[in-house]
Amino acid sequence: MAKLLGGIGSSHIPAIGVAMDKGLEQEPYWKSFFEAYPPVREWLYKQEPDIAVIFYNDHGLEFFHDRKPTFAIGAAEQYENADEGWGIAEIPPVTGETELSWHIVNHLVENDFDITICQEMKVDHGLTVPLTLMWPGHKYGHIKVIPVAINCERHPMPKPSRSFAFGKAIGDAIRSFAGDQKVVVFGTGGLSHQLDGQRAGFINKPFDLWCMEKMVDEPEAMTGFSNYELVEKAGAQGVELNMWLAMRGALEGEGKLQELHRSYHLPISNTGAGLQLLATAHAK
Ligand code: DHB
Ligand code: FE
Repeated sequence: MAKLLGGIGSSHIPAIGVAMDKGLEQEPYWKSFFEAYPPVREWLYKQEPDIAVIFYNDHGLEFFHDRKPTFAIGAAEQYENADEGWGIAEIPPVTGETELSWHIVNHLVENDFDITICQEMKVDHGLTVPLTLMWPGHKYGHIKVIPVAINCERHPMPKPSRSFAFGKAIGDAIRSFAGDQKVVVFGTGGLSHQLDGQRAGFINKPFDLWCMEKMVDEPEAMTGFSNYELVEKAGAQGVELNMWLAMRGALEGEGKLQELHRSYHLPISNTGAGLQLLATAHAK
């Protein structure tokens, strides 16, 4: 059976990718943000995962507001990024995975999650920036990726409890896949931030730190919120916490998790930038 090694929550803001492309990691603005990442990279290097299931939100590259699937999953051989409007550098394609993708898709539909299945899909910074953070120099081609996009741009969007349950169903699907692949799950985005409106620049550090604490053993503490409560507490785009909750949901059923890394840095592009690594008993 495929094995879930653990989950990683990470920021995904586009400026991180630009900073890496320009070699700005040691600049004062970026230094302590980037210093958090090597332990997580080293863990991945040691674990040698075959597949990464990445919960992210598409900010408008593939799905704009006019057609917004609640949950969309890729089942393609390859995924490409594209210019999202700020002249992002062309980066290598992301390698896809089709067998586990289809297994997940079938499992989800059988279990009442009626997702959108994408055999073609562009992937935006929500997916590519965390990959580049983990494998600098865009050296992520060896890992097979299953993109899972959850709507958090266009109301109505799935509730925290639904995002968590969706992640849990994907975790169950991974565990029931007849293969010996090693899988990691990512939840990208957040943490608290609001990019526009009267509260632009709003960050709630105590709430972010509380969420990271609850992620370890008590995710249910967060799944009772409505998205409106999340917006109040974490800003209009703080609903990206739902990506982290889906990642954490996938680890339900793995028993006690070991928190191997937690860090938080602000501000990075007006966000509270969290990084967290939760390992299962399958990790070396
Ligand atoms: C920005 C983009 C994001 O997707 C996000 O979650 C936070 C910030 C930005 O462009 O600054
Ligand atoms: Fe985002």
